[in-house]
Amino acid sequence: MSQGPGRGADVARGAALLAAGRLVAFPTETVYGLGADASRDDAVGRIFDVKGRPRAHPLIVHLAPGAALEGWAADVPDLAHRLAAAAWPGPLTLILRRGPRAAAAATGGADTIGLRVPAHPLAQALLAAFGGGVAAPSANRFGAVSPTTADHVAADLGGDVDYILDGGPCAVGVESTIVDLSRGRPVLLRPGGLPREAIEAIAGPLEVADARAPAAPGTLASHYAPRAEVIAVDLDGVPAAVAGALAAVAARRGAVAVLAPAGALAGWPELSQLPVLACPLPDDIAGMARELYGALRDLDARGVDVVIAALPPAAGLGEAVGDRLRRAAGPRPRGESAEP
Ligand code: TXA
Ligand code: MG
Repeated sequence: MSQGPGRGADVARGAALLAAGRLVAFPTETVYGLGADASRDDAVGRIFDVKGRPRAHPLIVHLAPGAALEGWAADVPDLAHRLAAAAWPGPLTLILRRGPRAAAAATGGADTIGLRVPAHPLAQALLAAFGGGVAAPSANRFGAVSPTTADHVAADLGGDVDYILDGGPCAVGVESTIVDLSRGRPVLLRPGGLPREAIEAIAGPLEVADARAPAAPGTLASHYAPRAEVIAVDLDGVPAAVAGALAAVAARRGAVAVLAPAGALAGWPELSQLPVLACPLPDDIAGMARELYGALRDLDARGVDVVIAALPPAAGLGEAVGDRLRRAAGPRPRGESAEP
């Protein structure tokens, strides 16, 4: 195996590598990104190679605070400026008509572009030092759970990334909310770290892209999946789902885990009598979002076969957490896990 990548908090080194067309993983407030110079097809092409991601799946271009949208986007509607003023830096990605600065590879050949200004100080320092746009998907292999620590990135990508900027664990823990402003009425393509309510207060009601007929390439039903089978159920349904999973895996001696708020787990004393691994998440929805992906990775590392996951109420960040759990529970490509 190749030697692991360099890792640390050396922003100048990260910026120099980006300028040389290399790949730099960096922390954002949502998840870690795998970055390359967004204006160079060759640099962006390496992202697709390393991730194993289909080239038609467009990337988000990250900009420094205060960077002009012009050049990256064209025909920017007034609503985009209002949303950007209210939410950036922060976990909101706007889909706009594409301008000339982005490499065709970064947008998957589309005539639109996803833009966002991340809130993490190291991401901002990297973007400021580099001076251009950085195209970055989440820094995991295609289809797997997004990384929320530098360790996750190193475990997924190893020596395939030239440098990992280590900014500690991500504060939000789920990816940005994506709103399409490129075709008139605003459409919610992906719920995420900025709650829908905050956006609708400015934009009015958002139309929702049907998850089963994705409007965005890349929003696949089986995305964000760990190796284990995930069964997402409402809180009330957890005990019955655990019993069902135990019966189903008994013959193959599989291991079952329950992923639920600590307070809810405490309310099911009968679970402690069963051969089930209890995986408590924080009771508040922000804590749940922050720890979700790490918990799913941890359960994979422990060899769990089936995860019964409690769906949170859909308000606020609960919409994004529920979306990711449903996708983790979604149909996988036949005969294989979501991981390549
Ligand atoms: O929080 C985040 O958004 C993280 C951090 C690193 O910024 N990034 C992220 O990137 O989650 P990725 O590539 O894993 O997911 C980006 C999503 C994909 O579903 C992609 O299809 C969609 O954004 N997307 C990007 N550009 C688009 C465009 N022009 N039109 C429609 N969807 C687009
Ligand atoms: Mg991703």
